[in-house]
Parts: sequence; structure tokens; C-alpha cells
Amino acid sequence: MATTDPVAQRARALRAQLAEANHAYHVLDAPLIADETYDALLRELSDLEAAHPELADPESPTQRVGGVPSSDFPPYRHGVPMLSLANAFDDTDLRAFDARVEKLAGNRPGYVCELKIDGVASSLRYQNGMLRSAGTRGDGTVGEEVTPNVRGIADIPRRLKPPFPAKLDARGEIYLRKSAFAVLNAAREASGLTLYANPRNTAAGGLRQKDPSITAERKLSFFAYAVGAYEGSPLPPSQSGLLATLQQMGLRVNEHATACATIDDVLAFCRRWEEERTTLDYEIDGVVIKVNDLALQARLGYAGKDPRWAIAFKFRAQEARTKLREIDVNVSRSGKLNPYAVLEPVSIGGVTVKMATLHNEADILRKDIRAGDTVIVHRAGDVIPYVVGPVVELRPPDAKPYRLPQRCPVCGSPVDHPPGDVFAYCTNVACPAQRRERLRHWCSRGAMDIEGVGDALAAALVENGACRDVADLYALDEAALLTLPRMGERSARNVLREIAASRARGLARVLAALGIRYVGSQNAALLAGAFGTADALATATQEAMATTEGIGPQIAESVAFFFAQPQNRDVIERLRARGVDLTAPLQPKEAVGALAGKTFVLTGTLPSLSREEASALILGAGGKVASAVSKKTNYVVAGDEPGSKLAKAESLGVPIVGEVELRALLAVHF
Ligand code: IVH
Repeated sequence: MATTDPVAQRARALRAQLAEANHAYHVLDAPLIADETYDALLRELSDLEAAHPELADPESPTQRVGGVPSSDFPPYRHGVPMLSLANAFDDTDLRAFDARVEKLAGNRPGYVCELKIDGVASSLRYQNGMLRSAGTRGDGTVGEEVTPNVRGIADIPRRLKPPFPAKLDARGEIYLRKSAFAVLNAAREASGLTLYANPRNTAAGGLRQKDPSITAERKLSFFAYAVGAYEGSPLPPSQSGLLATLQQMGLRVNEHATACATIDDVLAFCRRWEEERTTLDYEIDGVVIKVNDLALQARLGYAGKDPRWAIAFKFRAQEARTKLREIDVNVSRSGKLNPYAVLEPVSIGGVTVKMATLHNEADILRKDIRAGDTVIVHRAGDVIPYVVGPVVELRPPDAKPYRLPQRCPVCGSPVDHPPGDVFAYCTNVACPAQRRERLRHWCSRGAMDIEGVGDALAAALVENGACRDVADLYALDEAALLTLPRMGERSARNVLREIAASRARGLARVLAALGIRYVGSQNAALLAGAFGTADALATATQEAMATTEGIGPQIAESVAFFFAQPQNRDVIERLRARGVDLTAPLQPKEAVGALAGKTFVLTGTLPSLSREEASALILGAGGKVASAVSKKTNYVVAGDEPGSKLAKAESLGVPIVGEVELRALLAVHF
């Protein structure tokens, strides 16, 4: 029925928007709006309905639990419904919850705080200790049956360890570790596929694959935190006892669950994890606070769909809304066009964000991000801020769909969009932007490490024509430098001295500095050690390169391609003619040096070493640098704002060192 009542209209609009967001999130696994935006809209609707009881509607999203099962999987009926939780957003909400519980209980209750894992709530049915079936939460009563897929999840035992009850529905969260998500996306990026949006949706999508082997490839994980239907000897009397029992039966339980005697302890736990969430290898979006005593839980019961004995504390957003002023493009040293968002500055988690990456044109079109849009921007830990998507209802009427420029924004040359590649490239190798980026890279710390030539000087040298390529650096003289703005004699002499010193860096640095695709300092050191001279490498076959330990066919192909280009050979010849050392000591098969045989992983920002520089030092001492932490890692070198690698290291017991210790380890070598 049409209505002109603005309140009823608003409620209807909110319901429609929430239903659409629900569908996108739970069925399509492609969220339309940020979780925090969803929560805010749901709260607005629920406040409206509370103030206007005549608007009540059993179909309203406020009356329903989360997801709606999609039809591709058999329905999975839960013996005991899987309910959701009311949310608390601040201390006041938590204290109010505590006061309510205390009043109903008649005395002060104890709590257990658990991390709120951002994954897919699921229920696993064990009969006589054997995994029989599994389903997602769905609408709380009926979910989707995903048994074959769940069997491929390493954390989920097919058989429980005795003693186990005759029947057990173990409940918990299926999720994707951040490290596994990064590996999946790196593989997708290398194959030119669009990247997955976030671990939660990738987990949900992975769980709902028709082919269980695809689910298995996603390397999902599981934490148990509750019990549904149950038959057997009595359960322990508390939530903390229940977690211990689940763990004894071989299910994985999150190790950070903590008993809290008072609400102040609960608040401290929430604050701590809001700060430290980025150190974990999985995403959490809050803390779940549960009354510890299970008998008291039963006595408190439910209010509507939410238990009175538990509440979810939701963390502040790592996202914010802001205006996207324009979409700009920069050109990398390989000519790749990288679109990025120029934003109205906005503070996210205490950091001002002015720019955010937009990945590539396909991604912008898929999300339909337009200049002028209000957008949601995400920033967390060590990820580069990125645009999650637009708030479509706030779009100005004249906003136009985005088109990547067909010509390079720097040099005007045509742009090449290779089929099957999500990226587009400037076709002009002489493009000033490419030249500038190549020169900057050549001089950077992990490469030739020419300290006097920073970003501004590199740009100026390309702009005034003094350096058409990196070999021209070694032909510069004082007169040429003095024509540059703000360059005095003294600094000119310093710059020349540093350029001259870089001649002796050797082949490994040269190879890393040339910016060959897939050749960073590690691969450069391997190739230099295996071939000894630039000539030997330039004339080697792809097959010969690929027999080098650590060098795969993709890298070999890229190196061979590089040396096949006449302009690259020309640069090498001119570097040689100008005295740049293009040789390296041939490495015996066994690495030597203070760090020989030791594998390092770097995370966070070190006080004085860049990531490239630290890598170069480790490699120089015979060590290896890996990108992911495993049992084989000898040290994790952690700096400021470390990523999930730190937590991984902690959980595996890998020693964690800082820059000071790293320097100490290296000093043995000097
Ligand atoms: S207890 C009635 N514990 O958060 C109690 N839930 O809205 C139900 N979640 O659907 C859940 N970590 O997907 C519980 N340690 C945890 C949790 C957790 C994540 C999710 C779960 C649930 C939602 C609550």
C-alpha cells in the first residue's frame, strides 16, 4: 500500500536496503555496504519500529537472523536454533548489559570473553564421535548443508577424541586466515584475476562451492565456541569448561578466550583486542561476552531472537565514509596504469587517509565507483587503504561511470590492455613516468642505494633530459647537476660521489635495480650467484635459468624476455662502459655467510631500515627472506604495526627479533 507518511516511507526504504544488503552478503558473498553501515541502518530501523509500534512487521530484517539460504545446497535443519546476538557499541552498552544480567540473576555473574571471529557460523554434527553432517547457520533454523566441503577443512576432525558424547552439534566459526587469504589473492593477481574482497566473503564463497576440492584449496579454518543439540554424559557447568571439553575432543578452540570476573575486566579485554586485532592471523570484528555459568544462561533465556546471557561488543570501524574527489592514475616503472582515489581527507582508526588504491579498471567497474561518490574506505594494519565501494544512494545525479584513460595520462601514448590481464599498460617505454619510476627504483635503498638521489632529484633528472635511462646517471657531471633547481656545488659533488660509489655494488644489486618483473633482491641474488656475470645471464637459456634453486619458469621467462629487448641490452652495455660492476662472486651451492641457511620473514616498519634494505642485508649474509611464516622460519623481524605474521610467529614459537637484534646477527658477518 502506498503511503505518504515519511516515517513509514523511511522504514520501507530501510527494509528494502537491508534486504538487498543481506542478499548480497549472504547469498552472493559480495557485500554491498560495510558491516558498520549495515549495523547503523539496522539500528535506525529498529529505533523507528520501537518508536512506532504500528510499523511492526514480522518480515522486517530486525526480526530475522542473518542469512537466507540460497537454493543451491540441500537445506540443513538445526536441532537447536542458531541464534544471533544483540550488539554493544560502547562501555555504556556493556555496563547496561551487566546491570541487566545482575538484576535478573540476583547476584554478580562471571563472564567469559571470546574473540568474535569474522567468518561463517556453522554447526557440525557428530554421532558416536564421527562427523556425520555440517551446515551453515542460514536463517538460524535452516541453513545449507555443506558436509562434503567441511570434510576438507583441516581444523575439523572427522573423528572426535574420546571421551565424547553419543550426539554432539559443535558450533563455531569457519573462517579464512589472513595469511591464507593473502596467498590466494597473490595467486589471483599473478594470473590477472580480480582479487577477493575480504577473508570473510572468501570463506563463505569457498564453503559454498559445488566442488569440495575447490573448498579444500581455500584452506579454511575453524574455531568451536558452542554446543547445540547434545546427548550424553552431562556437559561441564560453565562456558569455560565447555571450551576446554571441546578442545579435549580435538576441536580447535580459540586460545584467547578469557574468564572475566567483573565488567571492568570485560571492558579491559575489549579495549585490548580492539587495539591488538591486527596482530592476529584472522579477522575479528568484536568480542562476544557470555555469562560463564551455563545454568544461569538457561535461567536468563532469550528476549526475542537474542540471548539475555550474551552480547557482542562491536569494534569501531576500520572504515569510514568520505567523498571521492577524483580518480587519478599513476604509471609504474613497467608502464602499468594504477588508478587511485583522491579523497576528502578522513580519519580512520586515528590515521588521516587522503588516497586509496582502486586496484584496476575492472575492479572499479565491478564496484561501480565514480568520481563524486561518497565511498567507504577501509584501512587496517599493514594493508594499503582501499575503497570498499560507493554509497550508491548518496551519488550525485551527474556522476559518470569510470573509464580508464585510453592514452597514458603522462605521455599521451596509447594504452595497451592485454586480453586476460586486468591491468592496462602505457605502451611507450620512453614514457617520462616510466623513466622516472625506473630511475627512482634504481637509486632506492634495496637496489643501488644511491642516497643522494631521492624521488625529487630523480624526477628532475628525467624531466630536464639529463637522464634518459639509468646508465645516464654514470655520465653526469657537476655542470649538468648545477643546472637543476636548488642544487649547489657541495651537494652536486656529494651526489656524484655517491653515484660513483654505487658502481661497485655488484651484479645482484644491479639485477634487482633494473626492475625486471618478478626479480626482487632475493631472486636477483640467486641469479647473480648462479651466473656470475650479466653476460652469462643474458645469454643463458630460459631452461638454464629455471634450473637455479629458487627460480621458477615464470621468473626465468621474465628475465629472458628482459634481456631479449634491444633497449635493455643497450642499457647494460652503457652501464658496463661507464664502469658499473656487472659481476658477482659465484655462489657455491651451499650458501655461506653469518646467516647461511637461516630463513627470515619481515613484518611491519623497522626504525631505520626499509624492507628492501633489510632483505638485501639478510641475503648478503647468506640468509633467505620468505614472505610467509612457517615452521621452517628461523626468525621473524618485526617493526611497527606488524601484520598477522607476528601472531603466526607467536603461535608457531618462531623467535621474533627487532632491528637491533637483526643488526647484531648481521654484525657477526661484518
Ligand atoms: S556465540 C547465541 N561466540 O557472531 C550465541 N558467536 O551475532 C551465538 N561469532 O552468528 C553465538 N565468534 O557467527 C559466538 N566466539 C563466538 C563468536 C560468535 C563469532 C559470530 C557468530 C554469530 C555472531 C553473533
